[in-house]
Amino acid sequence: KPTALVAGNWKMNGLASSQAELEALGNYLSDGSAADCDVLICPPFTLIAAFASNAPTGVAIGAQDCHTNKSGAHTGDISAEMLSDAGASYVIVGHSERRADHGESSALVRDKANAVLAEGLKAIVCVGETEAERDAGKTLDVVLGQVAQSVPAGSIPENTVVAYEPVWAIGTGRTPTVADVAEVHTAIRGALVERFGDAGNGFRILYGGSVKPSNAAELMAADNVNGALVGGASLKASDFNGIIDAY
Ligand code: 13P
Repeated sequence: KPTALVAGNWKMNGLASSQAELEALGNYLSDGSAADCDVLICPPFTLIAAFASNAPTGVAIGAQDCHTNKSGAHTGDISAEMLSDAGASYVIVGHSERRADHGESSALVRDKANAVLAEGLKAIVCVGETEAERDAGKTLDVVLGQVAQSVPAGSIPENTVVAYEPVWAIGTGRTPTVADVAEVHTAIRGALVERFGDAGNGFRILYGGSVKPSNAAELMAADNVNGALVGGASLKASDFNGIIDAY
């Protein structure tokens, strides 16, 4: 079983004063009660360098997006090379908010993931169905299609994480049942094994969408769930620590 990963996606939240949250998390991790999982914080671009140089032991720092190119005339964009230079070790790609707000296709997400891997960073590739797709019984078709198209051919368990985030569960306080989470994660696992052989068993598959301290333990115990991608509850060290405690 892969080592679990609990990742915080701060989205467009966090001013310089947020450093206090990182320190609170660090105090927790160094007090000996830290659970047996990897921990990652993905703050906005503006905080990556500061966080990476002050990150408590055991906390990795990542980004929430990148461009497909290394450099060039792309106003407002950030490359994986720049993120690596700033101290990031992971990059989230294909979050549903980027797929929706910026029209990112699965092919573009794969190209971004390839850019991440080319820098020696780890990609967290996000997939997930909308509520209409779930209601229409298309969940597995949509999710497995995104996995097939967004996860690069060169992915290995050491450089790629898949995150299943049902769009309708993000920021809503609603989650699928544990059985529904297990069904999707087991289907993703099957697709990874079919494509990558035995290595497919080593990829971490995170669940994301309204994870909080009170539901983390049961969601994290579901079949083929290897950690969490946490939005709102990652903004407060006490909540994020409560989720880490699920391990
Ligand atoms: P919430 O935890 O706020 O539902 O967000 C989940 C998410 O989108 C993480 O990437």
